[in-house]
Amino acid sequence: MAGRRTLGIVKPDGIVNGKLGLILAHVERAGFKVRAARLVRLSRAQAEAFYEVHRGRPFYEELVTFMSSGPCLPFALERADAVATFRATIGATDPAEASPGTIRKLFAESKGRNAVHGSDSDENAAREIGFFFTEAEVADLAQ
Ligand code: CMP
Repeated sequence: MAGRRTLGIVKPDGIVNGKLGLILAHVERAGFKVRAARLVRLSRAQAEAFYEVHRGRPFYEELVTFMSSGPCLPFALERADAVATFRATIGATDPAEASPGTIRKLFAESKGRNAVHGSDSDENAAREIGFFFTEAEVADLAQ
């Protein structure tokens, strides 16, 4: 059964461009409850670790440099079928290919600077939530 949690990140372009509030409004309108959130500035090593699965791919260096270039807002989300619903809410990786009304279509600049991240599986959602938040931080707010 599909899980109820996923991890999203408002990336540095979303925050620097002043879109944080609008992006979170879209997330809430899609029926998600924000269970944990924190403004962070990732070190290069933290960005490398978070995107370890992409190490060796042609865009990895650019991705790590960008994600450590400014503030990010990781957030843990909850609703039914969280991973698939959030990916539908944010749209395709490349905003040029994203459907109208999706967060990336509305707010992203390019495939690299694409405003938001969303976990791609329940397994990765659990790993990624654990990367930023303790279980207590997520669960304590779930009442
Ligand atoms: P994200 O959902 O954060 O997961 C991995 C990221 O790698 C992805 O969003 C994009 O921002 C980035 N990415 C994927 N493919 C490319 C690409 N071809 N060029 C640049 N960045 C990419």
